[in-house]
Amino acid sequence: MTTLALRRAVPRAGDLDAALGGDTLAELVRQFKLHGDAFRMHAPLLGRDVFVLSHPDHVRHLLVDQHARFEKGIGIERVRILLGNGLMTSEGTLWRSQRKAIQPAFHRLRVEAQVPAIVAANERLATRIAAAGGEPFDLGRHLSDITLEIVLRALFGGTYDVLVARDNPFALLTDEAERDLKFAYALRKLGGLLQAEIDRRRAQRDTTRHDDLLQTLIDARDRHSGEPMSDRQIRDEVFTLVVAGHETTASALCWTWYLVAGHPAVAAAVRAEASAASDADRARPAADRFPHAYRAIAEALRLYPPGWVLTRRALEATSIAGVDVERGDDILVSPFLVHRHPAFWDDAEAFDPTRFVPERAAVRSRFAYLPFGLGPRACIGEPLALAEMLAHVVTLAHRCELFLVPGQRVEWDARVNLRPRSTIQFTAAARRAT
Ligand code: HEM
Repeated sequence: MTTLALRRAVPRAGDLDAALGGDTLAELVRQFKLHGDAFRMHAPLLGRDVFVLSHPDHVRHLLVDQHARFEKGIGIERVRILLGNGLMTSEGTLWRSQRKAIQPAFHRLRVEAQVPAIVAANERLATRIAAAGGEPFDLGRHLSDITLEIVLRALFGGTYDVLVARDNPFALLTDEAERDLKFAYALRKLGGLLQAEIDRRRAQRDTTRHDDLLQTLIDARDRHSGEPMSDRQIRDEVFTLVVAGHETTASALCWTWYLVAGHPAVAAAVRAEASAASDADRARPAADRFPHAYRAIAEALRLYPPGWVLTRRALEATSIAGVDVERGDDILVSPFLVHRHPAFWDDAEAFDPTRFVPERAAVRSRFAYLPFGLGPRACIGEPLALAEMLAHVVTLAHRCELFLVPGQRVEWDARVNLRPRSTIQFTAAARRAT
């Protein structure tokens, strides 16, 4: 078959909003049900078709085996306005050298060193929540605050307390829901504050030892030229890490509690293992010590992956597991669709954390699950996010019992990330004296 014939063999399914606006995911779900794991949609704004691929073989080809044949695709220009040319949006040599420079900061040991501060922040949160005294509250707001605190502590270390002492200048990240131009402008205004901190550290770099992400960026040297990162690049990387690291984790935790609280047997198992653990294990939660909490998080990430769409553009003509694309073609992979693909997930819509017991996970394609993406451009923050989510669930489950306020209609809203359309109300009961 010719390339053209092969392209035509991929069914064409309606129009796609190339801005990936609010209804896009609902439309993708509809078309996936009609056409399966390979279809095209016409994007009037672009004047061409976009491929929507959802088979694990497509995932493997696009993100892992043939990743070098693709760059990031539609939507990335908008992200660039918000985040500049940091790790999420950069390409080629710049991306490679930045990834190499930043990767050590997410090494297991560096992440483990942050866990005591993460647990302490969650202990404070548990105290606040338990103090609600049975009154309904918006858990999402607490989650947004705590995930912001954690990523800022990872970035600024001890300087965090100084930066937020009077008024948290980063509060706009939790106060503003929209990620529009107005927000981009407000975020960029934080550049001055960041620059002052960079200058301060460069000036006294021999006397004070900082062990945080900002210092990793300041100390990084290009492998070939020996040059440091420019201040502008450092600022772009910091904004990228704050935005990419905070909202995704907050959404994932909100979905986790929504699902856990709605499944009393899972909730009871999560609480029981948190209570049975030793203080030492609770102080440094590890996935193998808290399997119920870990699996509940993994399953929430399957059903509601905050990064609901990954976009790529072909740099050259190639065939993606049988789907021929031309140079310049855009491709969407939605983890939401892949995670609910009926050929790879039994009873895919059901919340069932036992899918992640090792025996069941071992017989599944590892390309059927990608909440953090896969391949070289996979999430650099995954170790931090997982440590953070586990510490949060274990600490809260030990200290409180969370209940969903009955009668709420909970729907998803797929924008920059997949989050609940409106606030989800919970009540809490303290489990021991706080
Ligand atoms: C539950 C939490 C998180 C989820 C679900 C998530 C999801 C993702 C996904 C799906 C990608 C890949 C995008 C693509 O292939 O196009 C990604 C990339 C990225 N994430 Fe995360 N993320 C989370 C937490 C974090 C955290 C905590 C940080 C940092 C503090 C972070 C920083 C980044 C960065 C910088 C990239 C771009 C990496 C690159 O292209 O080299 N993320 N994330």
